[in-house]
Order: sequence, then structure tokens, then C-alpha cells
Amino acid sequence: MAMRQCMRRAGASLRPCTPIRSLATSRGRGAAAATATAVQGSNLPQEVIESIQRDTTLCNPDPHPDSKTAGLVTDQLQYMVPTYVRPMPMFEKGEGCYLWDVENRQYLDFTAGIAVNALGHCDPGVTQTIQNQAAQLMHTSNLYHNPWTGLLSKELVSRTKQSGAMQDAARAFICNSGSEANEAAIKFARKAGRTLDPSGEKHRILSFHQSFHGRTLGALSATPNPKYQKPFAPMLPGFHYGTFNDIAALDTLITDKTCGVIVEPIQGEGGVNVATEEFLLALRRRCNETGALLIFDEIQCGLGRTGSLWAHGDHPSEAHPDILTTAKALGNGFPVGATLVSEKVSSMIQTGDHGTTFGGNPLGARVAHHIIGRLSDPQLQQSVRQKEQVFRQCFGRLQQRFPQQIGETRGKGLMLGLQLHDDPAPIITAARERGLLIITCGTNTLRFVPPLIITQAEIEKGMAILEDAMTAVFATNEHVPPTRGQQEMGGGSA
Ligand SMILES: Cc1ncc(COP(=O)(O)O)c(C=O)c1O
Repeated sequence: MAMRQCMRRAGASLRPCTPIRSLATSRGRGAAAATATAVQGSNLPQEVIESIQRDTTLCNPDPHPDSKTAGLVTDQLQYMVPTYVRPMPMFEKGEGCYLWDVENRQYLDFTAGIAVNALGHCDPGVTQTIQNQAAQLMHTSNLYHNPWTGLLSKELVSRTKQSGAMQDAARAFICNSGSEANEAAIKFARKAGRTLDPSGEKHRILSFHQSFHGRTLGALSATPNPKYQKPFAPMLPGFHYGTFNDIAALDTLITDKTCGVIVEPIQGEGGVNVATEEFLLALRRRCNETGALLIFDEIQCGLGRTGSLWAHGDHPSEAHPDILTTAKALGNGFPVGATLVSEKVSSMIQTGDHGTTFGGNPLGARVAHHIIGRLSDPQLQQSVRQKEQVFRQCFGRLQQRFPQQIGETRGKGLMLGLQLHDDPAPIITAARERGLLIITCGTNTLRFVPPLIITQAEIEKGMAILEDAMTAVFATNEHVPPTRGQQEMGGGSA
């Protein structure tokens, strides 16, 4: 770290390095040895020489203060509200499982835009669908019919039922994001509570610690992370929190005053924590007893990510929800979300109860309609389960090699977590500088949510890079600066 800081502090005085650095990056690793030798005899400070030598061994060292990237970032950052902390590379192109930065350096992407680009970057079918519909009709508002909002709703309902998930799915409300899908779910639960008990007493919503449901005030009120909630307190009234997978507490937590319970069948941001079937069954049973609606947030874990269309689809119908929310992969990068409900829930919603200007516009709806068909493919889902095994074998090797640093693995399909004992931020940097993008979640968990189309060769390539990165951080004690943002954003959340 000291070396890199010194390097950055040296800033402008490092002009002589620039050609050397460009030589290293433009000619690749072949030039590395020559560069290292060239700087050895120079009159640069020793720590700068060491820093350059280190960088020349990396394929994608983070851009330096005198780089094209830094120039662009410095120019633009001052105009953006500082809600995010980002590492230096600036991405301008994507294809399949790869991204390229503005300096034309390639990165293998194990993040898929936080579980969004399930079909990979710039999938030709998705791009073509966007182009076709953009040339035909993009938006008319929800004051008028269009062919795609209804077709998408029908497709979501029928694909869901066919897949063996949520057997009561009957209708969908289409919106633009995960938070909005959850806002709709929370409002529908409140409306159902008021319908069942007009006194207004049945308004409580239960959610669980380590959950993440979004940043809008309703979704945030259901996200009991002090880091997110505290600056915006007070939260909305009526929100309560339980411990994930704690069945014993449910009888006290879910009462006649509860109108809704929202849960992720696999918690994403919270650390890739899988709900047990017993827990989901117990939630369903208690919701039936009290007349509360059960809401599954499958915004991250749904749409093929676990090797089934929906994560809860592997559980019996006695563990299915009344409301199911989705977004992320539904648009593969195009902003679209949906709230699926049973006929019982829908019957309690009236015209004017909820709405959106953009939600369900022909462009987003047609894109999502195309994508849900592709993600329902049983072959894709089977391949996701096979690829889970490839990851797990690689995890096993890493665990054997670094038993002091690596703990358990969690998750399902291509939503996997590798628990580290310490802060993974330096590993994130070391991996990125070697050409692999990876994110964290929970407490010290490395999160693996690559595009579902990733190949076995790409998984093995990425895992080899990760092993190199871990070797640098754990074994050779190389000082790698941590990636900021992974913590400040609470595990890289959206
Ligand atoms: C499980 C879950 N729910 C809701 C959200 C919020 O979605 P969005 O960022 O699209 O509003 C996220 C985003 O990370 C999520 O993972």
C-alpha cells in the first residue's frame, strides 16, 4: 500500500514512467521483464521502482493518476452525487463474460453486474430485441394498452407455474427495478391487511436480519441494516425483524397484526445465506394461520440463478409464496422488474391503488418477455447445476491450499459464497489487477454470481486468477491496496 501511495503521491513527477508503463501495458507481459530491467538502472526512488516492477507483472494494474482513465474520472466525478465508491477502471464494452475498459484491457466478469447479466454482456438476442422494439414503439404510458405488458405478465405466470414454483401465481404488476417490485409487494400486503381488518391494525411487515430488499423508503424499512437505515431514520412504522432460519421465533413474530412477511429464499447481499425448507414451510404455515401474505424476494436468487427458474421452485407447494418479486436478470441490464401475485391478492387491489409511468412500457416488457423465455430453458438450468460443481471443486482446492484464510462455502447454482476469515478487499483488488472482477457480500464473503452462460473453461480461468490473487495476498504477503466500495456499499450492493 505504502508503495502504491508513494507512486500516486509522486503523480506528476512520474512523467518519465509513463512511456515505460504504456510499454508494459501495450505490449503485455512479454515486455514486463524488459521494463523491470529498464527501471532498475534508473534514478527513480526505490519504492517507485518496486511499484513499477510490481505493476509490470500484472495484466491490468489499476490505472494511475496520469492515465486516460484517471483523466476521465477526475473530470466527471465532480458532477455526480457521491453515492458510490468505485475502483479506477472505467468499462466501455462487454461481450459474453468479458468486459473491456477504456484502455482496452479485458476482464473476466464473475459479477454479471450484481447477478443481472445472466445471458452475458450484449447478448445478440437481447440486443436485437431492443433494436427491433426501439424502432417500433418504446412508450405510451399505462393509460393505453400495448401488446407487450400483458404478454410479459402471461409469460411470467405460465413459466412460473410450469416450472413447479408458486402454483398460485395468477397476475403480474410490471415495474422498473427490484426496489419498486418490493414496494408494490409491501403496498399489496398493506392493502390486503386493511381489507381483512378495516381497523388498520393489521399493518405489520416482518423481514429478516441480513436481508436486502432495496433503497426506497418502504424497501429500506424492510432492510434492517443500520448502515443503510440510520442516515434516513425514522423508518416507516410497522416494520419488524426476525432472525433468518429461526423457526421457533415465528409464532411470536407473526401475529394477527402482521399483514406481510418478506424473505429472500437465498439472501444475496447478506452473505449468500440459504433459507432451509423447514423455515420456508414454517413461514407459510404461520402466514396461513394469521392471514399474513408471504412475499418471496427472488430479485437476486431467481430466474435460473440456482439452476431452477425460481429458487423456491425446488420446495413443495406448502412452502410457496402469495407474492413473488423479481428484477435484475429479467432485463439482463435493461431496467425492468415485476411483482407476481395470486388471484386472492389481486382481488384486493383496485384501480388506482398503485401505478408507474415507465413500468411495463413496450420496450422493457418485450425485452423481459424475450429473456424469461431464454432463462426458462431446462438445458441452461441443468448447465447451471453442473457449473456449480465446477466452482465447488475449485473452492475445495482453494480451501486445501489456504485453510487458515478460507472457511465454508454457501449457496446454490451460480449464486455461491466463499467465506473468508478476514476482509477480502485486497483480494478483490489483486484479482481485478490480474483480470478478474469479483464482488463481496455479508461479512468477509466472496460472492460468485457470474453470467449463467459462463463456460467451464472460463470458470477455471477465473478461479486460477483468483488463486493467483490469493497467493499474492495470503502467501507472498505482497501488499495489495484494498478495493474501496466493497465495504462502503455494504458488500457491493446495488
Ligand atoms: C434481493 C434483492 N432485493 C431487492 C434489491 C433491490 O433491487 P434494485 O437495486 O433493482 O432496486 C436487490 C438489489 O441488490 C436485491 O438483491
